[in-house]
Amino acid sequence: MSGHRLAIVGAGAVGRSVAELAGEYGHDVAAIADSTGAAVDPTGVDVPSVLRRKRSGEPVGDDAPDALFESDYDVLVEATPTTLGDAQPGFGHVERALAADRHVVLANKGPVAERYEELRRLAAESEGSLRFEATVGGAIPILSTIEDLTPAAVTAVRGVLNGTANFVLSRMASEGLVYDHVLAEAQDMGVAEADPSFDVDGTDAALKCVILANVLSDGGHSLDGADVTGIESITQSALELAAEDGQTIRLVGEASRDGVRVGPRLVPEHGPLAVSGTRNIVQIETTHAGQLHNSGRGAGGPETATAILADVERLE
Ligand code: HSE
Repeated sequence: MSGHRLAIVGAGAVGRSVAELAGEYGHDVAAIADSTGAAVDPTGVDVPSVLRRKRSGEPVGDDAPDALFESDYDVLVEATPTTLGDAQPGFGHVERALAADRHVVLANKGPVAERYEELRRLAAESEGSLRFEATVGGAIPILSTIEDLTPAAVTAVRGVLNGTANFVLSRMASEGLVYDHVLAEAQDMGVAEADPSFDVDGTDAALKCVILANVLSDGGHSLDGADVTGIESITQSALELAAEDGQTIRLVGEASRDGVRVGPRLVPEHGPLAVSGTRNIVQIETTHAGQLHNSGRGAGGPETATAILADVERLE
């Protein structure tokens, strides 16, 4: 279905890309606000100028977030930075839009990982629907693939699900670059989280795996129960030693109905899990059809916006 009016909350790389690409999909931007709600353009008239000012770091306005929710929109795009625990302010934005019977499309992982059951209940009580493909694997259709297969036909999902950590590990291994330098590059590319420690300490990959586990089990999982190790202690010499054996190291996440595990793993240097740069890969284990692989760009503004706008097309 085309011709939606989007209210975008979150004006970072993802929110801005949605605003910039929406027209190509036949949608209008009714309003855009940054994560604090401070930079609001509720009129829909001057969105390009808000984006220009936001990009140049100029102040963009001081309206309250209320203006965004009072605009004439039918789909809320929630792209504020992921927060843990109560997942605020993202959860509140979703709650407010669903209570007003609007559709919601999320890129923010917090509400889906940390408050899945509440979110499902709010969506069930609303005329609006809820989709969150962009929360896992950027442009790669992972959740919709599971939906197509039906969750009951999927036993587990494993893969490389953090573009920043993968970029760091693969650049360290192939170029011999130091950790801090490569992490700064990932931040410049708009791939790292607002707080990049989420990328390197495994939290971001774990949140994606928690979302997958929730989809497989219809809830019951949160970050608290996940077994998570990051890549901060992976050294150049560990990568060199692995290479002597034809192996490399990747941050691999695993999700099943039993729970979530994330950590650095040795993988064959030329095997499917050794994707390079910001690419992600998922391996979906099915009950009767073996393993499916899906890989592609797992992070970045236009990539994540592609998943968001695909979700907007899927709204019913
Ligand atoms: N910071 C995340 C990553 C963005 O590097 O994969 C996509 O969730």
